[in-house]
Amino acid sequence: MQQTLSIIKPDAVKKGVIGKIMDRFESNGLRIAAMKKVKLSTCDAKAFYAVHKDRPFFNDLVDFMVSGPVVVMVLEGDDAVAKNRDLMGATNPKEAKPGTIRADFAENIDANAVHGSDSLENAKNEIAFFFATREIC
Ligand code: CMP
Repeated sequence: MQQTLSIIKPDAVKKGVIGKIMDRFESNGLRIAAMKKVKLSTCDAKAFYAVHKDRPFFNDLVDFMVSGPVVVMVLEGDDAVAKNRDLMGATNPKEAKPGTIRADFAENIDANAVHGSDSLENAKNEIAFFFATREIC
């Protein structure tokens, strides 16, 4: 059993597809163990994506992530990190397999609907960034 962090990004929240995205997780064996809707500050977004701070897209990424509310979730299940990434599809929606969340709901590589932890170690850090232990059921 693993836990991983998922973020429904501002583009998908604005489109009104929170429920449709959550259904992808729940219908594919990922339980929602924690969930909240939050508006990130610039400071939050910079800290969360600090690993990308030297990439050319960093400032655009931060601006996008603070452009509206996001939904953050802890997903739990067998092989949850890899399963979530399979359900999301490729980072660039143009390369995402049909039927994945990004193929169905994302616009482009910046507004790409969802974020998911890319390793078990990062999942632990990302979950701790957003949730106290008592908030995860
Ligand atoms: P995410 O999985 O949230 O992780 C970092 C984000 O940076 C990524 O999704 C994309 O939305 C965004 N991004 C923009 N350009 C790139 C790029 N060239 N490579 C990777 N991520 C990018």
